[in-house]
Amino acid sequence: MIRSIVLAAGKGTRMRSDKPKVLHKLMNKSMLEIVLDELTLANIEEHYLVLGYKKNEIIDHLAQEYKYESVVQDEQLGTAHAVMQTQKLLKDKNGLTIITCGDTPLLNADIFNNLIQEHQKNKNDLTILTAKINEPFGYGRIVKNSSGIAGIVEEKDANEIEKEINEINTGVFCVDNKYLFKHISDILNNNNQKEYYLTDIVKIFVEKKLNVGSHCICDKESILGVNDVDALSLARKIYKKRINKFHLQNGVDIIDINNTYIEKNVKIEKNTIIYPGVSISGETRIGENNIILENTKINNSIIGNNNNIGPMAHMRDECSVGNNNRIGNFVELKSVLLSNNVKAAHLTYLGDCEIDENVNIGCGVITANYDGSNKHKTKIGKNCFIGSNTNLIAPCSIGDGTLVAAGTTVGGIIESSKFVIGRTKTQIKENRSSL
Ligand code: UD1
Ligand code: MG
Repeated sequence: MIRSIVLAAGKGTRMRSDKPKVLHKLMNKSMLEIVLDELTLANIEEHYLVLGYKKNEIIDHLAQEYKYESVVQDEQLGTAHAVMQTQKLLKDKNGLTIITCGDTPLLNADIFNNLIQEHQKNKNDLTILTAKINEPFGYGRIVKNSSGIAGIVEEKDANEIEKEINEINTGVFCVDNKYLFKHISDILNNNNQKEYYLTDIVKIFVEKKLNVGSHCICDKESILGVNDVDALSLARKIYKKRINKFHLQNGVDIIDINNTYIEKNVKIEKNTIIYPGVSISGETRIGENNIILENTKINNSIIGNNNNIGPMAHMRDECSVGNNNRIGNFVELKSVLLSNNVKAAHLTYLGDCEIDENVNIGCGVITANYDGSNKHKTKIGKNCFIGSNTNLIAPCSIGDGTLVAAGTTVGGIIESSKFVIGRTKTQIKENRSSL
């Protein structure tokens, strides 16, 4: 049995924000959600959260989506004190406990898995996840002597020699649960911050002749602890780059990976080209051979193959687009079911509508889908031509092969193969120009 304890009670004073630190988001997900996702991916079965500062806000934020138990640390007296709050629930349990922090969101499932394997292979009682980095400032340093690991010293308590150590504590421990709770109350707060440091458990285990080891990762990105907004911005950049690189490896041609926003759950197939400034979010699925041009935004939509979208198109929500369509600049789609070979090349709003194949939507076409209190649907049959600046007043249904002349305002049911025109007659008056 492997469980996790996630420390998330702190306010995160260094963030200079009223929001609990772990609720700050990298992209669409908070750091805490990302940590829980990765622990779950690593097959860790139970999660115990230590909450304190604005705990109800955190519980509301996680809503029903996550399974966990929480304990409350009313006063944040240090990371060991935080773990102690789980004592009642966990002290009699066998198995392994992974302790991690809610502010290290770049540690992924592979890292947790490797740590557990290393722990089991070496028959350790405690394994510290460490990293060797060039700029160890701010992290706890791993102190070693001739017999191996001796302890961890925090930045604020380190002497000049210890500050030179470049192997650091990532904040993650894999520990035999029974030993953890046997010794955690031996930790004292006799340090510069008057806090109960979890890191002091290492020295205690060494003194009790328990097996203490480390698993070192040479990856300065994954271990990043987010303590201030500067680090949050760096973590976000790394997280975004990782997602984009994953798509590159699958044959998605992202032209500028530093300037493309793709959320984690998005799926894209090979040979789709994505130009700079594109944002793809939610549960969007995109097929093969699409071209998505600059500054297009797509949310919660499904796109088939061979479509040409943008620049500056906006697929707001719940759109489903087939194959070989053209959705051009300043075209906004919301709840649209688009078949194949449809062209909406410029300046158009299509909301709550179904459009069948081979339809041309002229420039400036608008579906007036909202009557002030309710939304209504527009349906356009196959092979229609909807002229420029047409207002389609929903509910509206246009039969196959109908031509709507430019500038028409139309609603209701129009049968197939009609010619629809509704414009005010233009009058030209002589000698009336004021110019
Ligand atoms: C901690 C480690 C340090 C390590 C670093 C890695 C300790 C004493 N130090 O330092 O060795 O290099 O993480 O990022 O463990 N928390 C509580 N209750 C508390 C205090 C903290 O729940 O009383 C939570 C915080 O909300 C946070 C996490 O524990 O999510 C870590 O606390 P933080 O203050 O960020 O510790 P660091 O200074 O980063
Ligand atoms: Mg931290």
